[in-house]
Amino acid sequence: MNRLFAIADLHLSLARPKPMDIFGPGWQDHVRRVARHWDAAVLPGDLVLIAGDISWAMKLDEARPDLEWIAARPGRKVLIKGNHDYWWSSIRQVRQAAPAGLYFVQNDVADFDDVVIGGTRLWDFPGINWPLPAAEAMAGAAVETIEDKARAEVDDERIRRREIQRLKNSLAQLPRDGRRRVAMVHYPPVGADGQPTALTDIINSYDIDLCVYGHVHALGDEPRPGADCVIGGTRFVLTACDWLGCRLRLLDDPAAPSFD
Ligand SMILES: [Fe+2]
Ligand SMILES: [Fe+2]
Repeated sequence: MNRLFAIADLHLSLARPKPMDIFGPGWQDHVRRVARHWDAAVLPGDLVLIAGDISWAMKLDEARPDLEWIAARPGRKVLIKGNHDYWWSSIRQVRQAAPAGLYFVQNDVADFDDVVIGGTRLWDFPGINWPLPAAEAMAGAAVETIEDKARAEVDDERIRRREIQRLKNSLAQLPRDGRRRVAMVHYPPVGADGQPTALTDIINSYDIDLCVYGHVHALGDEPRPGADCVIGGTRFVLTACDWLGCRLRLLDDPAAPSFD
């Protein structure tokens, strides 16, 4: 059986080191801390889900050291795009340039021995609320005038519709053959309260067992029900690097408490 690990929001920048203190103290020395835990915990046959915000690079060439760093860690890695992954423009070029052992999901699915994985980036959806400090720094464009705001709202709505369609297209491609069904999204489909949303309804409708997401940062230690909850038979887990304390989350540890 493939063991499943997850971590999102690695925010690597090995080509051009970038200070991470904009995201809070939990990011101190995060690359070294993640590597130490990853190398100790993961075996070569395991799967590691990386739900977006992989690299700060703007261009694919600049992202190469970050992709090589990921490839050097044990396990097979499945990646989707986050809102900061500007280097990931052409999926064909990304796949050509990527080191072995990295699998990129975009408008399709990844298929392993006993797990099938689909997903998309998503976007900010009204009503899916996380505490204000958790809103990711620098996400979204600056809005200055009423006209800008109206235009931004139209654009947001267009992106939401497109991302919902991409989510459905990807999840519809998951084979129904008894294997574990996993969705990866970057933006949270569920709010901090852990209540059902229009997005959790869609994900439920494809009989997804597990949905991992990231994007929200600097949450502190307060309990957040939406960070690990079961809604309609799907377990939703927040896997942002700082939320996990820069450690990968094992998602099928038999010793872990049952959420069903
Ligand atoms: Fe992020
Ligand atoms: Fe993000």
